[in-house]
Amino acid sequence: MKDISRLRLLIKKIISENFETLEKEEVKIEDVNSDEIENILNSCDSAMKLPHFDKVCSDPQASQRLRAVADWSKSIKLTKDGEIIGFYIFSNENPYDFMESVKPLGIKFNIENQELFEELKSKSGVEGVAVGINKEERGRGYGRRLLEYPRILGNDYIWGIQSKGLSDIKMWSKRRDVLATAEAPGGQMFWITVEKF
Ligand SMILES: CC(C)(COP(=O)(O)OP(=O)(O)OC[C@H]1O[C@@H](n2cnc3c(N)ncnc32)[C@H](O)[C@@H]1OP(=O)(O)O)[C@@H](O)C(=O)NCCC(=O)NCCS
Repeated sequence: MKDISRLRLLIKKIISENFETLEKEEVKIEDVNSDEIENILNSCDSAMKLPHFDKVCSDPQASQRLRAVADWSKSIKLTKDGEIIGFYIFSNENPYDFMESVKPLGIKFNIENQELFEELKSKSGVEGVAVGINKEERGRGYGRRLLEYPRILGNDYIWGIQSKGLSDIKMWSKRRDVLATAEAPGGQMFWITVEKF
């Protein structure tokens, strides 16, 4: 009898240890190595797929701004057991310079929150240029980890440009305030959103 109990305990131990290793998939936030940039831009393409345009991040022309402003030393990748499953690309541009830079393109932003607009002028911001996770890994809390990561960068706020069709402004409004909106000459809607830390 004693032996059977011991055997049961041993089996239980083996099963629970194996379950633990199954559940212990290692999901980490890590720095981006320079030889991983194109890989990240390809992951960004699949995360941001649009109905008629599927190379929003890797196409050299479409991603011109992204490539120009991205700070790869600040940007991060999300890995699971060593495989890249997500990313968050950051830039050091501020919303004021961005809004000025698009004026020649006929994009004029309306300030929706004047108080916030004035307040942030003296603060340091980081831009969240693009964030995404492989489809099959969504809804497991990994996205939340990425979205909360910028808090540790040492800036006062994070801002981003959302565009209709590509971004879900309702989702962003859960954690950010709308600073400004614009309608481009072709009718495309943009929002600039901000999360203060
Ligand atoms: C945005 C994204 C990274 C979130 O990852 P996820 O695994 O779905 O998210 P989780 O389940 O871990 O966490 C949910 C949180 O993400 C937020 N979220 C989910 N989808 C979102 C979206 N499309 N835009 C903004 N926030 C989003 C939710 O509001 C929720 O926030 P809460 O923690 O305040 O409740 C993921 O849905 C994705 O890759 N989407 C496609 C790419 C994209 O739309 N990127 C943003 C446009 S730049």
